[in-house]
Amino acid sequence: MKFFVDTADIGEIRELEATGLLDGVTTNPSLIQKSGRPMLDVIREICAVVPGPVSAEVTATDYDTMLAEGRKLAKLAKNVAVKVPLTPDGLKACRALSQEGTKINVTLCFSAAQALLAAKAGASFISPFVGRLDDIGQDGMELIADIVEIYDNYDSIDTEVLVASVRHPMHVIEAAKLGAHVATLPPPVLRQMFKHPLTDKGLDAFLADWKKTGQSIL
Ligand code: E4P
Repeated sequence: MKFFVDTADIGEIRELEATGLLDGVTTNPSLIQKSGRPMLDVIREICAVVPGPVSAEVTATDYDTMLAEGRKLAKLAKNVAVKVPLTPDGLKACRALSQEGTKINVTLCFSAAQALLAAKAGASFISPFVGRLDDIGQDGMELIADIVEIYDNYDSIDTEVLVASVRHPMHVIEAAKLGAHVATLPPPVLRQMFKHPLTDKGLDAFLADWKKTGQSIL
């Protein structure tokens, strides 16, 4: 499973990239707003730090402007993946931009029917939002299971399932069990995945015993 990080905070991205575990980055207009910086600068900077796909979202809602924005974003760096919303105009822009060779991440997916349309429109990634579905009492993971099953039925579909709106490590585990290709993680969730109290306790005990030996490996 590939791990993307879901943030526009360049400091966080640099730190997490250093772990060697990052395969890409996703941003959205809310995350750009939170960074407090100009979007184009942030995307350029992230693309220079992380070699994998970096999602940059269009903010227009009509086809022509989405196309112009998508083309501008795609020119920022070779690893930009243009993000478009799952609307009729968004999917039309997805089809046009993907035919030009740009990777497209179709965002704001909340149903299997929408995911099927995105694949048909040539999306490289489909982003189903599991946390926001859970928030309204629907099962986000059931949607991931449906999309993975449907995509697996067709050799012609190479759209990757990118699990978005992840709230905790169990979302990642469940999505990996279902065979989702990518999860985009808020930095705190990625950090949580390293942690287990028995790891800390075990390490403390090993180090205490090692100290008693008086030895040194180096
Ligand atoms: C990622 O591409 C999405 O924009 C993001 O995961 C949404 O997460 P949220 O529901 O926590 O805002």
